Amino acid sequence: MFRDFPLFPRQASTMAGEVDALFFVLVAISLFFGVLVAALVVFFSVKYRRRSEDEMPRAIHGSLPLEIAWTVIPLFIVLGIFIWSARIYIDFYRVPTNAIDVYVVGKRWMWKAQHITGQREINELHVPVGTPVKVTVTSEDVIHSFYIPDFRVKKDAVPGRYATLWFEATKPGRYRLFCAEYCGTKHSEMKGWITVMEPAAFQTWLQGGATGSMADEGKKLFESMACATCHQPNSQGRGPVLEGVFGKPVRLAGGQTVTADAEYIRESIVHPTAKIVEGYQPIMPTFQGLISEEGLSQLVAYIQSLKGPGGADAPQPAGAAAAPAAPAAPQHDAAQGGSSR
Ligand code: CUA
Repeated sequence: MFRDFPLFPRQASTMAGEVDALFFVLVAISLFFGVLVAALVVFFSVKYRRRSEDEMPRAIHGSLPLEIAWTVIPLFIVLGIFIWSARIYIDFYRVPTNAIDVYVVGKRWMWKAQHITGQREINELHVPVGTPVKVTVTSEDVIHSFYIPDFRVKKDAVPGRYATLWFEATKPGRYRLFCAEYCGTKHSEMKGWITVMEPAAFQTWLQGGATGSMADEGKKLFESMACATCHQPNSQGRGPVLEGVFGKPVRLAGGQTVTADAEYIRESIVHPTAKIVEGYQPIMPTFQGLISEEGLSQLVAYIQSLKGPGGADAPQPAGAAAAPAAPAAPQHDAAQGGSSR
């Protein structure tokens, strides 16, 4: 509607049109009632002004039809707004299953992006047109907010947790990226560009510059941190089997079940005692502060890439017993991980 009006951001994602429609309807409804009320105030104050000193108006004792009308009409208006905006919210919340993965870390004062194939960018993000892109955002220090006005998407980057947003760009081009949460001296300089490319050009772009995929980098980290000492693929280890676990339900010691998503994997690395898998001991040391946020997302990508035996799902931890008495693992101080809930 206002595509060429410079004060209004372009519409460059599948979400933009619907968000704008809702916005303009909200503005129109507010304007309508605002103007109506203001005009009636002026009109009535003139029409019913006191014309003589001893003029006394007739007493009013209420009107049932009026009461019902101004209760029911607004009720249906706000219910309509609620249903419409809830649908948009759900669309924004549900990431399409064919979305490509990008990990973004906010850091004072830059945006670091990492593609699943291994390319890394700073204050730049290249994405293909017409393809849903899932962005997992987190922060290395304070709260930032990942904001692309032309796509009508924004998500806070909160230290210590993953948040996701998704978008599907509709037009090739360059679009502004901002930090939308005040984060210090150079907050206003924490910005970048989203480059939307034709799929073929994007594939060519992806070919260049990567040292190894995120999963490969994660594998290296996994080995250098000696994770495999406990997490062995044959369930003889002291830690749960990781093959095929990603995206699957995991039974915890308390009896609850959680889904092994990116957030869970990340938490299990930095706060291992937060959620203990059924049948295991809380013996894993914390890796908080030892692995950067980028490293954590690489580990997540690596664990996501691990398929169960024969590509099938991993077996449930078959009553894996308590830890052997003589651990061969490198001795981290398990106590220092003490932020159990
Ligand atoms: Cu980062 Cu403001």
